[in-house]
Amino acid sequence: MATGDDKSEEKLWGGRFTGATDPIMEKFNASIGFDKRMWKEDITGSLAYIKAIERLGLVTAAECLSISDGLRAIYKEWESNSFVIKPFDEDIHTANERRLKELIGDAAGKLHTGRSRNDQVTVDMRLWLREAIKNIRSYLISFIQVSLSRAKRDIDVLMPGYTHLQQAQPIRWSHWVLCHATSLLRDLQRLDQTANRADELTLGSGALAGNAFGVDRQMLAKELRFSRVSSNSLDATMDRDFVIDFLYWASVTMLHLSRWAEDLIIYSSKEFGFATLADAYSTGSSLMPQKKNADSLELIRGKAGSVCGRLTGFMMSYKGLPSTYNKDLQEDKIAMFETYDSMSELLQIATGVLSTLTVHKSRCQGALTSDMLATDLAYYLVRKGIPFREAHSLSGLCVAAAEAKSVKLCDLPLVDLQAISQDFGPDVMLVWNYENSVEQYTSVGGTAKSAVLHQIDAMEKVLKE
Ligand code: ARG
Repeated sequence: MATGDDKSEEKLWGGRFTGATDPIMEKFNASIGFDKRMWKEDITGSLAYIKAIERLGLVTAAECLSISDGLRAIYKEWESNSFVIKPFDEDIHTANERRLKELIGDAAGKLHTGRSRNDQVTVDMRLWLREAIKNIRSYLISFIQVSLSRAKRDIDVLMPGYTHLQQAQPIRWSHWVLCHATSLLRDLQRLDQTANRADELTLGSGALAGNAFGVDRQMLAKELRFSRVSSNSLDATMDRDFVIDFLYWASVTMLHLSRWAEDLIIYSSKEFGFATLADAYSTGSSLMPQKKNADSLELIRGKAGSVCGRLTGFMMSYKGLPSTYNKDLQEDKIAMFETYDSMSELLQIATGVLSTLTVHKSRCQGALTSDMLATDLAYYLVRKGIPFREAHSLSGLCVAAAEAKSVKLCDLPLVDLQAISQDFGPDVMLVWNYENSVEQYTSVGGTAKSAVLHQIDAMEKVLKE
């Protein structure tokens, strides 16, 4: 175990310290365990920064070359998994700089001129999140695309639509598929807005006051492909809104996916039997041999809780912080990485579940009952000129009459219908047809085939843009 004095020598910020750090404090303080995931971004940021300060004459061309070469060598070490993390490497920033010094000597100390870990960490995170969002975006798009192709394929399947989880009106299965794809398409747009918020260069803000050497931040932004430069150095070092935006995006997406999962869990139960999950996404019971559980969907539903928890958790860490950098902010990366890991995994699982799902047309259609056409019966009277409110109550009387006779609504004899309203004629028989029922809803957004195809078309266009 090194003595306190040894430690002060090894720490990059150790200059003013004489005492030793409690070993538990050492561990407690360190973020290398998780922020090493940003090794690439940290080096990319440093490569841009060294160029920028060379322009200012703060390092010579030879020093710039030596530092850049050293950084590239470190890059290769990380890439080949041979970078060795030392006990006093507190975070990715100090670890890379420590290694640079080992490789090229004292010139390494010039890299940090005018820079602070406070601006370094946010630029690393913004670079990291940019790539992360690209991946997640492609997973989200795949899910929506699979929804569209399943909606096309199963367009002829009719099923009960529900409100309050009670049978309401017949709809197309595809209409249900598309309702979730529609909310996820909004999530895609929200994700793009999130990416846009993160697209701002914070490097060149120093510890808090700015950059004392007049570094060209526009050049840095261009080099690191950011479209804007942050406008206030205090804000730039304390701002983690882009993390919160990402966590919020994930939370809303999970609210949606958990509802999708819940529907499918219900639909795939024996009682419903509308769909069967592929074995690849189900598991069995260790005790009951007959069981096939929708664990994939339950996990998605469950992860909605943890994802939302990370959002509220980090917001609570963020709340009430005094201006600029405080160590509380180190919690940001845990939330960001864990959320990314959950989202990228579960979006791929969701896509797999949907693409391999078997839809049982006969079970879906077998669940339709003629009392789900009570609205259609009222519409029949509306088309004969009866005001809707009156037609609604007349149809209600028909439902009650059928119940009293213990017959299906569609089997209530014409004389009984006519006893309720003289406007019922023999053509009322045409009402008892589920296909005709759904085909009434041709207005934009409805469940008629043409309207469903229109939705698919419109969403495909949005995805192409
Ligand atoms: N590991 C730190 C974090 O993630 C980096 C910034 C440290 N800055 C400081 N002033 N101690 O937040």
